[in-house]
Amino acid sequence: MATTLIPPQALADELVARVQAFCRSLDAQLPAYSYVPLTTDAQRLIVLQSRYWNELRAAEIFGRWLKGFDDLEVKLHFMDAIGEEARHSRLLADRIRALGGDPLDYLPPPGQIAMFNAFEALEDPVERVAAFSLAGEGVADYLIGKMLDAPGVPEWLKAPYRAIHAEEQGHGSYPAEVIARLATTEERQRRARRAVAMSLVLRRRYFDDLDDMVLRGVRW
Ligand SMILES: [Fe+2]
Ligand SMILES: [Fe+2]
Repeated sequence: MATTLIPPQALADELVARVQAFCRSLDAQLPAYSYVPLTTDAQRLIVLQSRYWNELRAAEIFGRWLKGFDDLEVKLHFMDAIGEEARHSRLLADRIRALGGDPLDYLPPPGQIAMFNAFEALEDPVERVAAFSLAGEGVADYLIGKMLDAPGVPEWLKAPYRAIHAEEQGHGSYPAEVIARLATTEERQRRARRAVAMSLVLRRRYFDDLDDMVLRGVRW
């Protein structure tokens, strides 16, 4: 069988391009998740709660993953990330309470549950970084950029996301560097590609479910 192994840097470039293409596909109709199409604080509250849930769930998953990392740099990255998600969760909880809401009074839709459960089940460090850090956080941070540029999003809502954006941007090309360093076998490259595809398809489902919740009142 012909080898499908490509230089790991080429794989990293391919996956970055794939995530960027997904991001651009959102531009024509930005999801409720981005806050950009929202017009009321009642809608914004639901998205804040949804994204608060993500911060907690992210830290839980990173914690469960830690023992499985033998690459010290990757392990330390996720140790730092747990503290980062805690900071983000506090920033969002403050805004939820300021709106009179309860951060935990939220039932995640099926797509959101599925996406995080799928992340949690990933076993290889490269596929974890590809699915969560590169694709997941990459799309999330892209949409934070859109929100910060949108004149219709109120300043009180942009403020916490400016701090979150600064931290996420601080990771910069970190996920691509990990892939370029560690995706050195056919198996790892195949899993990384599949993980990015999985992350994006489930992300799309989560965004559609959240649109249904926030814009059309659907509940599960
Ligand atoms: Fe993060
Ligand atoms: Fe976060």
